[in-house]
Amino acid sequence: MRLAVVGAGAVGSSVAELAGEYGHTVTALADSKGAVVDPDGIDVESALAAKRTDGVVGSAAPEDALDGEYDVLVEATPTTLGDAQPGFGHVRAALERGRHVVLANKGPVAERYGEVVELERDSDGEVLFEATVGGAMPVLSTIDDFGPEHITAARGVLNGTANFILSRMAAEGLDYEHVLAEAQDLGVAEADPTFDVEGTDAALKCVIVANVLAQGDREYSLEDAEVEGISTIPGSALELAQEDGRTIRLIGEVVDGEVRVGPRLVPENAALAVSGTRNIVQFETEHAGRLNVSGRGAGGPETATAVLADVGRLSE
Ligand code: HSE
Repeated sequence: MRLAVVGAGAVGSSVAELAGEYGHTVTALADSKGAVVDPDGIDVESALAAKRTDGVVGSAAPEDALDGEYDVLVEATPTTLGDAQPGFGHVRAALERGRHVVLANKGPVAERYGEVVELERDSDGEVLFEATVGGAMPVLSTIDDFGPEHITAARGVLNGTANFILSRMAAEGLDYEHVLAEAQDLGVAEADPTFDVEGTDAALKCVIVANVLAQGDREYSLEDAEVEGISTIPGSALELAQEDGRTIRLIGEVVDGEVRVGPRLVPENAALAVSGTRNIVQFETEHAGRLNVSGRGAGGPETATAVLADVGRLSE
């Protein structure tokens, strides 16, 4: 497949780097300031080297990437709330040209899901978005394989940064501010970790899961989610929980049509008590009990594997 990759952050760059290994050709790579476009395939290494040295991948205009020759648009620009722009506009442009879209950007499918489905219906292109939920973990494809109608609930740990902070607070008896600074030093937390620690990122992922489980019967957006973060949890709360064989995790859930994210007490030895940046999703199924999917929920190469798995699901 020929890929146009829009967004050259950790995920977009990793997709471009790994695409050749998966048998694909990158015909365009764009960041917010520039692009490099070649219908025969761009030189990914030199584009990423230019990004490192000059802060931009190439001298073409960013929108040239959308107008070039490609089979799949990989949308990996940052997630934005509300109108989900510029990601949503990129999705529309590709679908209107009859091209496929693979999203790593959560915005379009969390905030404007119904519109994306409608655009897809009118297009020869398909939209896939495994990478938007839980990095490398096959969450949406598991729902698809299992059949959304046979899944009665989903819950789990869907934010690596918040989980890292809670795990470290519990293990070392440190307070929130201290561990957050450590997470930023290690590059686990973003410079602006608001989305992560306030529960927004986990809520967006739950909203996407809710949209997929609802199969069009109802459309969810962030406004439908009840969200509470971890920034006000005192270290003493984790100590108290520990005395009782429990710990605190930021749990997201989609149950009975409701989407909720918040800190919850869970037994220390429960599957949900994953540690560090690990994620987990538990599905409650109609006839087969509980199904756990766990793994790396964030990171460039990890999330890129989910993007490339989606590309592999598409036909030319
Ligand atoms: N920042 C997120 C996390 C990954 O910490 O899990 C992207 O959604």
